[in-house]
Amino acid sequence: MRSEENGTKREALWEQAKLASELAYSPYSGVKVGAAVLDSQGRIHSGCNVENASYGLTQCAERNALATAIAAGARPGELVEIAVYATSFEVLSPCGACRQVMVELLSDTATVHCGSDRGSINSWPIESLFPSPFKLEES
Ligand code: THU
Repeated sequence: MRSEENGTKREALWEQAKLASELAYSPYSGVKVGAAVLDSQGRIHSGCNVENASYGLTQCAERNALATAIAAGARPGELVEIAVYATSFEVLSPCGACRQVMVELLSDTATVHCGSDRGSINSWPIESLFPSPFKLEES
């Protein structure tokens, strides 16, 4: 992607993350989270958190957006940026389970952006957000 396209894509990514957060199913926590993933073809894939009465079955917005990207044909390593937007948070930071999945599916140089309706946006390279992740050894 050309560099001038990055800013426009970043805005679109935030827009999609915010729109996705409005679709959250979160009757238990009341927290609405939306995530949008940019693939190397410039496509955006989004997802929201989906809770369950059996609380541990809750699915985070990040993992749902990543799964949507894979189901749309994006391959691991082709996902270059993810934006996560949440209500009710001062500072949002992805949970450990989502970081593990991000490491496997995002490109090694991907950036993770997190923001909320209350606080500022924080951005991290995926390698600093989750250093030394578990990976299967290549045979
Ligand atoms: N949640 C996410 O979707 N992503 C995060 O990064 C943090 C937490 C959801 C899970 C649950 O539905 C609600 O936020 C409160 O934990």
